[in-house]
Amino acid sequence: MKALLLAGGLGTRLRPLTDDLPKPMVPIMGRPLLERIILNLKRSGVDEVVISTYYKSQYIEDYFKPKEDLGAKIHYITEESPLGTGGAIKNAEKFFDDTFLILNSDIVSDIDYADLIKYHKRRRAQVTIASIEVRDTSQYGVIEFDEKGFITAFKEKPKPGESNSKYINAGVYVFEPEVLKEIPENTVVSVERETYPKLLEKGYRMAIYKFNGYWIDIGTIDKYKKVHEDILKGKSRFVSTTSSRGIILGDNVKIHPTAKVIGPAYIGNNTEIDAYATVGPYTVIGNNCRIGQESKVSQSVLWDNVKVRRFARLENAVVTSECIVEVNMEVKNTVFTANRLASTTLTT
Ligand code: GDD
Ligand code: MG
Repeated sequence: MKALLLAGGLGTRLRPLTDDLPKPMVPIMGRPLLERIILNLKRSGVDEVVISTYYKSQYIEDYFKPKEDLGAKIHYITEESPLGTGGAIKNAEKFFDDTFLILNSDIVSDIDYADLIKYHKRRRAQVTIASIEVRDTSQYGVIEFDEKGFITAFKEKPKPGESNSKYINAGVYVFEPEVLKEIPENTVVSVERETYPKLLEKGYRMAIYKFNGYWIDIGTIDKYKKVHEDILKGKSRFVSTTSSRGIILGDNVKIHPTAKVIGPAYIGNNTEIDAYATVGPYTVIGNNCRIGQESKVSQSVLWDNVKVRRFARLENAVVTSECIVEVNMEVKNTVFTANRLASTTLTT
């Protein structure tokens, strides 16, 4: 089975985390989201993926090219200017001659892809859209459907009162390749705003696949923080880990005997925690970090190669790769990137 990963968006709402890397490459528990998505797809029998890129496309290729051990064959297709979600799907047409999956690459979910594909085939649908029920639908595509589970309307980010349905597009689709003929070539097209309404108008069989498991679009900083908390709380199976008393340790972690780690927490490979430092709870520390003597890090997400110097305090913060948090410095309710405090304020 093949999957197309839509990974070309600008990630504007996730700035400054996306200043240097594309949104699908932000780390989730110390590993890029896109890599975790591919690993999960692999477990469901997907052995070939096409990554559709635009913004910072080279970053994605540079990361995955040396990683031949992922077990899935990876193809790349890059746009010179953004084609939109529908245009990106059409652009990748040559890779697909059988039923295939399409995924937004900013979703952390426990969806069972194998079950979704089985459902799609059973319904003899030409498109199946995975869906979850939410209270506030305004940021999503909203799906209306009949009692047999076939979609009757698709409304992208509807205005209040425009739809009564609470079922949203979860950003995971199964397509039969024949529907691609309905998308014009080399044109900016939104699959949500243009293609889905057109397919419905033309009478294509579009099914809704409802699921109740964990699902979140990590597209804002608050949600990026929340997803880590949720995973540490065990609300999602997206990251498979084994923990002892809620503390997940990577390889070669060095914790000084006087340091304190309070779970739930995740500490990445080769990270060192110095004397009398306190880490946790609800804290994720990436690979190759150094948490200095008597410093304190709680409710925070640190990326790779971060240095927290002596007596520094971090609380409800996100710190991007290579940053140095200086001696005595306090970083609270914010994003810290490349030695400066961003204007972003995190909700507490
Ligand atoms: N290649 C390519 N080219 N990819 C793109 C482009 C493009 O021009 N534009 C967006 N993408 C990718 C993004 O990288 C992301 O993975 C995915 O398409 C969806 O784009 P977002 O910008 O994250 O859209 P959204 O979150 O506002 O809405 C979408 O996701 C919701 C679920 O989270 C829609 O699909 C909604 O209908 C859906 O409910
Ligand atoms: Mg999104």
